[in-house]
Amino acid sequence: MWSEWKRLFQERASRPLPPIPETIDLPPRWRAPVARSLARFQIGEGGEGRIANEIRRVQLASIDDDYRDALRLFVREEGRHARILGTMVRALGGELCRETWTERLFVRGRRLAGVRLKLLVLLAAEVVGIGFYGQLAGALDEGPLRDALLQITGDEEDHLRFHVDFFQRSIRGSRGRRALFTAVWLGVASLACGLVVLDHRQTLAVTGIGPRDAARDYRDRILAVLRATLATEAPLTSARGRPAAKAKDCDREPGEAAQVIPRRRLRRRAA
Ligand SMILES: [Fe+2]
Ligand SMILES: [Fe+2]
Repeated sequence: MWSEWKRLFQERASRPLPPIPETIDLPPRWRAPVARSLARFQIGEGGEGRIANEIRRVQLASIDDDYRDALRLFVREEGRHARILGTMVRALGGELCRETWTERLFVRGRRLAGVRLKLLVLLAAEVVGIGFYGQLAGALDEGPLRDALLQITGDEEDHLRFHVDFFQRSIRGSRGRRALFTAVWLGVASLACGLVVLDHRQTLAVTGIGPRDAARDYRDRILAVLRATLATEAPLTSARGRPAAKAKDCDREPGEAAQVIPRRRLRRRAA
């Protein structure tokens, strides 16, 4: 039942990394906060390996071996994102970080939890990533940084659908589980997105995205995930519902991710 997700992740596992030049041209005021933000996201992208090991031992009606393989490939894809973001940070003259307080919070939250809550935290991380990378890409001029961010955002949108597919199957037919998902999702996702807006307020301010618009965008995304997960029939949230897009996505060149173009118009770069 998870073979299409496994195939999707397998097909794009061998993509080359998007080209990032040794130095990236950005307005001087943007460089330090954007590099700091990307360095903080880079930590989160590389830290999800434990869940793939844990899921090997877990028996749930909604998963099978294909799911376990797909999750392992998903974790590897997040590691690829970490490598891309690391290159971006260096090209902006920034430094990678070892640990951040938001990442510590995410990791502690995940470790306290059972596997379902860990997956829900990962789902929240996808919303966080899609919102931030997408908005930052929307604020940038065309170029390799924007293209690479759009490619990552496209991947994150598939990750989000993958996790939503899991929760749809897990809560189907149970009013109690649907209510529990609603309560926990709204709490965890709101906290995660709120922390990101707070932690990255300088980047949001300097790029003109603005913390209020970012928070509104996150609110809309959190509610959209809730609606999609609770929907009894939601073909858009499954790999099954997008066979035509699948092949295209696997061949997708940086910048071709039309579905992930942020809602915000491209902004003029402030000098
Ligand atoms: Fe990622
Ligand atoms: Fe992701």
